[in-house]
Amino acid sequence: MTTTTPSATCPVDLALVAEVAALAPSVHNSQPWQFVVGDGRLDIYGDPTRRLRSLDPDLRLLHISCGAAAELARLAIRSAGRAADIDWRPDPGTPMLLARIRVGEPQPASDLDRELVAAIPRRYTDRGPYDGNPVAPDLVAEMTHAVSSYGLALRLVQDSGERATLAMLLSDAENAEATDTHYAEEIGYWVHAGADGVPIMAVAPWPDHVVPDLPLRQWLPDGRHLHLPAGGPPEVLRDTVVTVVADGDGPLDWLTTGAAVAWLQLRATVDGLATQPLGPATDFAAARIRLARDLGLVGHPQFVMRIGRGSGRPWTGRRDPSEVTIEPKPAP
Ligand SMILES: Cc1cc2nc3c(=O)[nH]c(=O)nc-3n(C[C@H](O)[C@H](O)[C@H](O)COP(=O)(O)O)c2cc1C
Repeated sequence: MTTTTPSATCPVDLALVAEVAALAPSVHNSQPWQFVVGDGRLDIYGDPTRRLRSLDPDLRLLHISCGAAAELARLAIRSAGRAADIDWRPDPGTPMLLARIRVGEPQPASDLDRELVAAIPRRYTDRGPYDGNPVAPDLVAEMTHAVSSYGLALRLVQDSGERATLAMLLSDAENAEATDTHYAEEIGYWVHAGADGVPIMAVAPWPDHVVPDLPLRQWLPDGRHLHLPAGGPPEVLRDTVVTVVADGDGPLDWLTTGAAVAWLQLRATVDGLATQPLGPATDFAAARIRLARDLGLVGHPQFVMRIGRGSGRPWTGRRDPSEVTIEPKPAP
C-alpha cells in the first residue's frame, strides 16, 4: 500500500483514494484506468491501451468501468469527512480525462457512506447460484431512489414474460458474441489468474442440480449444461434482476451508469448480497435497442445485473498501484 501523507493543502491522502478506486469492477477485470493525483483533486483517465478490442470498440465498457472507479473515489473522500464532487469529462480537449474528483469542504460522512466504503473490499462479482430469495422490496425501493439521483432509472425485470424476453435476447447476444472468433480469443485471454483478468475459480460452472432462468456470460467454451443430472431435472433459479436505464447513449450516460452501478453493488454488499452483470444484454447498441423495445423501457438500458445472496469470494487481482497511479514528485 502506498504511504504518502496528505499535503498541507489537501487533508485527504489521494494516493490512498486511488488505491480504493482501483478496487472497482471493470469489464473482464481489465482495469482500463490511470489515476493522477493533483492538488486537492484526483483525475481518472481512461486507458485505451487496455480496452477490449472486440467487445468494446466504442469504449463504452471502458467508460462504465472508469465511472465505477470515480464513484469509489468519491465515496472514499466522503468517508474521510470531506465533500467530494465529480466533474465528468472536465476538459473537452482531453477526451480520455473521464473524471475529476475534487476534495471539498469538511462535511461529515453519513453512516451509509461509511458502510458503503467499508463494503468496498468485500464487494465481488459472484457468478454462481444465489440462494433463490428475492431482494427485499425496501432495498429495491432504496436502490431505485438512489439511482435516480445519478439522473438514471432503475427498473426490475421480474414478470415471467419479461424474463422470457430477456432470456431470448441474452441467448441471441451470447451466441453472436461467442461465435465471433475475435471475441472468443479475447475472452480466452482474459480468463487467467494474476493482477488482472478473471481467474478460472471465479467462472466455475454451476453445480448440475441448479440452472439460472437467464443465460449468463459463458466464460469457458465448455461451460454449458449438456446433460441431465442423475437426480432429475435441475431446479431453475430466478434471481432479482435490475436494469439501469439512461436518457442517452453517450460517454456521460456510460460514466454515470458506472457510478450508479458501483453504488448499487456496494449497497447490495452492505446487506450481504452479491451481484453479477449480464453484459451481453447491453454490450452492443443493437442489443440495447432491442432490450428497450421488448421491455418497453423509456430510454437506453445501459446495464443489467442480477442480485442475490452468493456463496463466497473468488480472488480477483488488481494491478500494482505504482502501475496505475501517477503522483506529483516530492520537492527536492
Ligand atoms: C462494464 C462491465 C461489464 C461486465 N460484464 C460482465 C458479464 O457480462 N458477466 C460477468 O460475469 N461479469 C461481468 N462484469 C464483472 C467483471 O468481470 C468484474 O467486475 C471483474 O472481473 C472484477 O471482479 P470483481 O467484480 O469480483 O472485483 C462486468 C463488469 C463491468 C464493469
